[in-house]
Amino acid sequence: MKIIDGKACADLILEEVKAEIARFNARPGLAFILVGDQPASETYVKRKIAACENVGIASFDCRLSEGVSEAELLAKIDEFNQESDIDGIIVQQPLPSHICTTKLIAAIDVLKDVDGFHPLNVGRLLLGDESGMISCTPLGIIKLLERSKISVSGKEVVIVGRSNIVGKPLAALLMQKGRDATVTVVHSKTKNLAEVCKRADILIAAIGKPKFITDQMVKEGAVVIDVGINRVDGKLVGDVDFEKVEKIASKITPVPGGVGPMTIATLLNNTWQSYKRRHSL
Ligand code: GUN
Repeated sequence: MKIIDGKACADLILEEVKAEIARFNARPGLAFILVGDQPASETYVKRKIAACENVGIASFDCRLSEGVSEAELLAKIDEFNQESDIDGIIVQQPLPSHICTTKLIAAIDVLKDVDGFHPLNVGRLLLGDESGMISCTPLGIIKLLERSKISVSGKEVVIVGRSNIVGKPLAALLMQKGRDATVTVVHSKTKNLAEVCKRADILIAAIGKPKFITDQMVKEGAVVIDVGINRVDGKLVGDVDFEKVEKIASKITPVPGGVGPMTIATLLNNTWQSYKRRHSL
């Protein structure tokens, strides 16, 4: 089948997590910190909370105003670090510009860093140690490729976008020994971006620009993974011009129903893994 069904794959993972939580009669907890009035972040957090409820994870929802100080945020993180019922802490990004994101993330207890953004977890990943927490969207993409039986070994993978949340950790995962992809990361300053994209056996779009990837940028038979979630005229569209690219790709993820659900399933699985580690299960 040409369409890679991320929703179906995510549902399977969620069922596995739900069954394990029930088997251990456990009640893991996940805390969300949401700053300011960001409709996109609001939507993501709502989805994550609904998914938590579904698998038996308790959610702790903390909303702070746009003008919150860094000190107040750090105090909140410290409170959640101390709270034994909380196994995971998420500070939804982006944060207002007066807040130093790096400083906040570093303040999260590394054992509760279910987003995998803590410098220690990022460093471990770069060193080839995957025993720490790994960022949810990149890990979700790896799982989706694995479960769809798409091998990356020796393939030319081009990632469009160099963010800390997706592009950078995904490049690290794909080039890791054992996965063995040949990875190129392109971004807004790349020359001949379309040409580089056209070399890809697997093209991954994570730039946050609606329909940025056109059929001109895709090789016949390539696998196309669309990480974009853009709202255009009230409709969700990816970073890929799906109607055009679908015709030449061998496999493609849709938006919605592709990478998005995998991010959430991975987050809940990370939270469950964190619970198990914290309780020596
Ligand atoms: N903003 C966009 N994606 C993410 C994510 O996976 N985690 C957090 N904390 N913020 C995000």
